[in-house]
Amino acid sequence: MKALVARSYGPLEELSTVDLPTPVPGPGQLLVRMEAAALNAVDKVLVTGAMRDAIPVTHPFVPGVDISGTVEAVGTAVTRFRPGDPVIAWNSVASGALAEYALINDAPSAARRPAELTPAQGAALPTGALTAAALLELVDAPQGSGVLIVGAAGGVGSYTVQLAKQAGLTVVATGRAGDEAFLSGLGAHHVLDYRAVDIVEETRRLLPGGADVVIDLANAGPGLAATAAAARPGGRLVSPLGGPPSFDREVTALYGGTRATEGRLAALAAQAAKGELSIPIDSSYPFAEARQALIDFGARHVQGKITVTF
Ligand SMILES: NC(=O)c1ccc[n+]([C@@H]2O[C@H](COP(=O)([O-])OP(=O)(O)OC[C@H]3O[C@@H](n4cnc5c(N)ncnc54)[C@H](OP(=O)(O)O)[C@@H]3O)[C@@H](O)[C@H]2O)c1
Repeated sequence: MKALVARSYGPLEELSTVDLPTPVPGPGQLLVRMEAAALNAVDKVLVTGAMRDAIPVTHPFVPGVDISGTVEAVGTAVTRFRPGDPVIAWNSVASGALAEYALINDAPSAARRPAELTPAQGAALPTGALTAAALLELVDAPQGSGVLIVGAAGGVGSYTVQLAKQAGLTVVATGRAGDEAFLSGLGAHHVLDYRAVDIVEETRRLLPGGADVVIDLANAGPGLAATAAAARPGGRLVSPLGGPPSFDREVTALYGGTRATEGRLAALAAQAAKGELSIPIDSSYPFAEARQALIDFGARHVQGKITVTF
């Protein structure tokens, strides 16, 4: 099979398309013939080695965790899928999405792709929507709460805005000047251009007393203290990137990441199939241009997801 491969840690420009043996599904695994993949920030850091201490990879390494395709073969003990099934998955196996075939687990991280969704739409859903749902579950904010979403136009943010709106929260979303219509269309009540205004000050003006919850998808580590200042005393800040255990002010820090609980991916896909959840695709590249897709993903502003089709 053809695969986009990193032979060692290094810049994205060193990725190359090579022939690799098609993987064979082991017990509890499915072999998926890829129809589309979607890109995530983690793909880049695993290629460059920026996170090699926390998440080392083995080489040759095929990047990509968002999978959409057709089940080609199943290993023993697979109960949920049969060959021929359309499937989407957030991959948790060391077999990347940017290849003609990928292995996934027969697990809640995989779901049948509804007929209403194109392969690219299916690929653009798992990481973004599962992460958004997991972060909102972590904060468990009651209806009517005010939430500031920092980094709202990206792959996770564009789902977080929609699911927060569905949960009855008042959404203040940050993006660039050109994101206003996009973010309002997803359900944001207020859109702030993070490059033009002080988002803490503006949030405090829009949500008097401060946000009940800040979901920061852009900053990490000590940088989170700045956005935590937009939360009211007793409020919460949640991040998928990690940071200090607490802040000077009375704001609780919560850290979490992508999680596929039983049935959640299928439920999100069903919502999308009914048109209740929008799948924002910024742009799509053919597999032959997958390396360029990853380079562009890091270099320009994106509304939602970038997909790669096979
Ligand atoms: N722990 C986990 O399991 C997990 C899971 C998924 C994602 N993540 C992480 O969560 C982060 C968000 O993921 P994603 O897929 O949504 O990434 P993404 O698609 O790259 O979106 C990030 C967004 O943040 C914006 N941004 C960057 N700097 C900003 C700043 N200073 N202020 C406000 N907004 C800013 C970006 O806008 P510009 O284009 O203007 O820079 C972009 O819209 C990534 O770092 C990713 O690695 C972690």
